[in-house]
Amino acid sequence: MSQHLTDAPSSAAAPAADDAERRDWWRDAVIYQVYPRSFADANGDGMGDLPGVTARLPYLRDLGVDAVWLSPFYASPQADAGYDVADYRAVDPVFGTLNDADDLVRAAHALGLRVIVDVVPNHCSDQHEWFKQALREGAGSPLRDRFHFRPGKGAHGELPPNDWESIFGGPAWTRTVDGDGRPGEWYLHLFAPEQPDFNWKHPAVHDEFRSVLRFWLDLGVDGFRVDVAHGLVKADGLPDIGHSEQLALLGTATMPYFDQDGVHEIYRDWRQILDEYAPRLRPGAAPSDRIAVAEAWTPTIERAALYLRPDELHQAFNFEYLSAGWDAAELRAVVERSLSAMGAVGAPATWVLSNHDVTRHATRFANPPGGGTQLREPGDRELGLRRARAAALLMLALPGSAYLYQGEELGLPDVTDLPDEVRQDPSFFRAAGQDGFRDGCRVPIPWSGTEAPYGFGPVPGGPSWLPQPPEWAGLSVEAQQGDPGSTLELYRAALRLRRELPALGAGAAVTWLDAPQGVLAFRRDAPEGAAGTGNATEAADGAGSGFVCTVNTTGAPVELAAPGRPLLSSAAGGAAQPVDGDSAVRVTIAADTAIWWAI
Ligand code: NOJ
Repeated sequence: MSQHLTDAPSSAAAPAADDAERRDWWRDAVIYQVYPRSFADANGDGMGDLPGVTARLPYLRDLGVDAVWLSPFYASPQADAGYDVADYRAVDPVFGTLNDADDLVRAAHALGLRVIVDVVPNHCSDQHEWFKQALREGAGSPLRDRFHFRPGKGAHGELPPNDWESIFGGPAWTRTVDGDGRPGEWYLHLFAPEQPDFNWKHPAVHDEFRSVLRFWLDLGVDGFRVDVAHGLVKADGLPDIGHSEQLALLGTATMPYFDQDGVHEIYRDWRQILDEYAPRLRPGAAPSDRIAVAEAWTPTIERAALYLRPDELHQAFNFEYLSAGWDAAELRAVVERSLSAMGAVGAPATWVLSNHDVTRHATRFANPPGGGTQLREPGDRELGLRRARAAALLMLALPGSAYLYQGEELGLPDVTDLPDEVRQDPSFFRAAGQDGFRDGCRVPIPWSGTEAPYGFGPVPGGPSWLPQPPEWAGLSVEAQQGDPGSTLELYRAALRLRRELPALGAGAAVTWLDAPQGVLAFRRDAPEGAAGTGNATEAADGAGSGFVCTVNTTGAPVELAAPGRPLLSSAAGGAAQPVDGDSAVRVTIAADTAIWWAI
């Protein structure tokens, strides 16, 4: 059972009264992704670490998020920034110690924040003990059955066992070298060669991950983000796909290595483990409040919903929403499809605009549509920021749970001009510099000061693992806080209202309202008997309990009937402008602007 149920310090119970009333906290949670390498560096070695995160937790509490998701901080050679795990139960020295992880979880709980950690079950590191032993023991080693080792094709086994391509470019197979120096069997790695795929048909793999989940649940974490959740089970016989350019098909077609039906059995098993744990703040009560969120790139939203049936996982990232362009019709369509698919299995929809794998949305929206999620052009920065701010208000107004990626609350753009020699994304190297630009969204956060690393590390002029651009001095937390026109204050205000207004947060539907071309307008009503966690009446200044969000996705101002009293606008200059002084009837909404209204 959980350490924190039995021996949590009394301060950890402080938010209990408030929290205990909020059943199923995850249905409307705002979850903030911390990328530990780049969040805060306490020891000054240029790499973020767990003590750095712990020290900044009050910032996240004040921002108004409910939970923190930490990307991997486990023992790892860092061939894929920690998504190559050598020991699932150890903290890599670069990030700290297990005690630091424990401190972080306790400190977060004491502040009323939940903690979700990454679990990486599709593959490990080639430095994982099982894999090292499998290599050492050679063909026939029982350890090899826990991975996908195969003899090669061709007269001398010189060809890979099948035609699968790695997501990071090149073949998904690497040939081993036997003890006598001769070429041996091949092993499967859907990602980098340093990330061998586990064979989930082997019982030891199941047992190992059950134990890993329990290890972190016992330490007190509130849940898991499941890396490559769609990849664990491969089609029987590892069949050829029959052609190259397979990456272009990802997310649109069923591949023999992704989204196989067999994965669901694993998640039904994991759900039972999560459910064994009593709620952290309500010991002895049911149901459990430990959750899992799937990173599942599936051909359709409906396929993603299968991972969220009541006996499987709790949430899945909504990558169709993340991939949608800044276009009212496209956005409306994906919102409708998401709500309907998730509603069909009783799961909350989720919304996400950025993460550590894609170009930040302030830069995606600055570029022409259709460019994908790996961009190298800065585009029109002003336009990108304007749309990013509007997109944040849209996302936070939708029913369900939202994921924020560190730095989006500062309006950070991608760093598109990193010199090639500082890049670390393994896919950049496997694609010969033609792809794999994920380092651009991983540049360390600017906290304060005028000299790099802008408070990321303790010493001005000290190192940071990726260089920050000089203009980030003006985007730091210190530079933005207290400035009502800043993106940071916009996020804080939106998250505060989201807590206060009963119509916001959980729910399964929106009511679309008539709106001019290129404008989204929808209404949300407070569920029967619902009360926000704050003073809704005060927030809405005497308005009723309904809420409307209007989003002008066009590049020109639009005029529309004011649906109510403006609460918050994404335009730095303030809310909607009354037309001819008649604010009660018609207003003009600036280009690329979202407005929240109380009705
Ligand atoms: C998805 C992670 O988000 C990404 O960063 C990683 O490279 C791959 N999975 C492989 O683990």
